[in-house]
Amino acid sequence: MSKTSFLYESLVSYRHKILKIILFELFYTFKYFKKNEKSFKEPHIHPCPYYFNHKLSKFINKKKIKNVVELGCGFGRITNFLADNTNANIFGYELDLEAFESANKNKFTNVSIIHSDILKVNYEKNKFDAYILNDPFFQPTKKNLDIYKNLIKKIYKSKKNSKKKYYIFAINFVKKKRIVFSKFRLLKTITAGPGRNINIYCS
Ligand SMILES: C[S@@+](CC[C@H](N)C(=O)[O-])C[C@H]1O[C@@H](n2cnc3c(N)ncnc32)[C@H](O)[C@@H]1O
Repeated sequence: MSKTSFLYESLVSYRHKILKIILFELFYTFKYFKKNEKSFKEPHIHPCPYYFNHKLSKFINKKKIKNVVELGCGFGRITNFLADNTNANIFGYELDLEAFESANKNKFTNVSIIHSDILKVNYEKNKFDAYILNDPFFQPTKKNLDIYKNLIKKIYKSKKNSKKKYYIFAINFVKKKRIVFSKFRLLKTITAGPGRNINIYCS
């Protein structure tokens, strides 16, 4: 996809909060200029906008969440933002080697980047309090819906014996896919356009 098409598509898809999206993008792109080699790689063309990152960081700070993991962290846009704007320990899993190497090289203090398939992570072993998903299996196929169901079931089962609350931040999930979070309580929704949103779930 060309830069012009990407820009046009982004403006249209985030149209309900376009002013905030643009202002936050300008401010933080400038602030993190040296750290951001790249934001996305096709076929994944939707990095989380800084305005959404800001909303995530506010929630994490308000709830004093300690250990946050992003499943499919790409080039580390969210992980670095949260490390810089919260007191949490931030973890990121990424399968793509180029994205992993870049995220690992440019990571902020308090960030750990792991080169791994999120479908093979042992979630019982890792004590995370919040899970971020920016739609890593974005194609709206039955296969991907089943992958999500299994992934969320795995996380759910890993927490069965824990009384501690935990959160799932689902970014840019279209309505059809949000069915996979039906076992969780929806706490908050931030919408910027059709299919462009953050839904925050709690156990
Ligand atoms: C939409 S991008 C999100 C990038 C980043 N979170 C952001 O907002 O800037 C989804 C990422 O998930 C990664 N991904 C997809 N399947 C994965 C898997 N099975 N294990 C780990 N990462 C995966 C992709 O390589 C891609 O970098």
